[in-house]
Amino acid sequence: MMKIIAHFAMALFCFLLFYFQTMSESVKMLTECNELSDNFTRTSSYRSNRDTLLSTLRDRSSLESYSNVTVGPSPNTVYGMFFCRGDISRTSCSNCVHAATLNVAETCNSHKGASIFYDECVVQYSNVSFFTLVEDAPAIRRYSPSRSLGSSDFFNQTLPGKIYELILRAASSSQVPYFAEDQEHVTQLEGSYDLEALVQCSPDLDTRNCTVCLRLAVEDFFECCSHAHLAHIIFPKCLVMYNISALQPSLGVING
Ligand SMILES: *[C@@H]1O[C@H](CO)[C@@H](O)[C@H](O)[C@H]1NC(C)=O
Ligand SMILES: *[C@@H]1O[C@H](CO)[C@@H](O)[C@H](O)[C@H]1NC(C)=O
Ligand SMILES: *[C@@H]1O[C@H](CO)[C@@H](O)[C@H](O)[C@H]1NC(C)=O
Ligand SMILES: *[C@@H]1O[C@H](CO)[C@@H](O)[C@H](O)[C@H]1NC(C)=O
Ligand SMILES: *[C@@H]1O[C@H](CO)[C@@H](O)[C@H](O)[C@H]1NC(C)=O
Ligand SMILES: *[C@@H]1O[C@H](CO)[C@@H](O)[C@H](O)[C@H]1NC(C)=O
Repeated sequence: MMKIIAHFAMALFCFLLFYFQTMSESVKMLTECNELSDNFTRTSSYRSNRDTLLSTLRDRSSLESYSNVTVGPSPNTVYGMFFCRGDISRTSCSNCVHAATLNVAETCNSHKGASIFYDECVVQYSNVSFFTLVEDAPAIRRYSPSRSLGSSDFFNQTLPGKIYELILRAASSSQVPYFAEDQEHVTQLEGSYDLEALVQCSPDLDTRNCTVCLRLAVEDFFECCSHAHLAHIIFPKCLVMYNISALQPSLGVING
């Protein structure tokens, strides 16, 4: 009898474990295979280097929230990296990089370069080194259209002020590299809101390029989705996100 109960408890435990792991899975937003590059054949050494690279990134993701890897001699060298959002756990980071590397190997089966964006991590590889470079494409732009706040100072003062303050903090942060977030209760004439914002750079950028990347992301945001109640702009090397709670957003999505 005890044995049956023990088995049942074990099964329940496994189910719950599976359930919560599934619940916390990060969400894929974009896979971009580099169509410009030549395809490689299934048996090429570029392919085996690529596969080694992706599995090395997977291994490192259980230890680090950022890693760059270079595999193989020229002309079949593959360069790759991942970075995870600074506000997630190591386990979530590792789960995200696992999902992303497996997905990109399948989707970009024979492409020399690829970028894959999840909501919690970004993974990229290429036959050309892209470390330390600012890239502004491909990008994720996810936002919710504006409601009643249209005429307030919030979007032309409070929010840009907060975002630029975070950019300064992120670009000068050393403790958790290039990550800054803030939660603030904002009170304005029309009402009060909880504003949550975060900005982050990939650690391969230097301070200057971190700032350049974040400013590009913010400009991009003001072009596409100013007055949004929620916005997530994810570039290959940096991200800017905020949301204003106490308002029900309806999501709009642009990829490109
Ligand atoms: C990368 O691949 C592209 C397309 O095959 C090729 O034109 C380019 O020369 C390669 N670059 C390097 C550094 O191998
Ligand atoms: C690579 O393969 C894809 C799909 O198999 C094809 O659409 C694309 O044209 C190929 N590119 C080159 C440069 O051969
Ligand atoms: C910063 O990014 C630019 C543009 O990608 C690149 O040309 C430059 O070399 C980068 N700076 C450093 C220090 O790597
Ligand atoms: C912000 O926008 C409002 C309404 O659109 C305007 O009245 C206000 O002067 C603007 N403030 C700044 C600093 O531009
Ligand atoms: C790449 O990773 C190595 C450690 O594996 C590190 O020393 C180096 O600074 C990294 N390069 C960049 C550009 O982040
Ligand atoms: C936005 O709101 C959700 C909860 O509604 C929260 O989990 C998330 O971290 C918030 N922050 C950003 C920057 O999206």
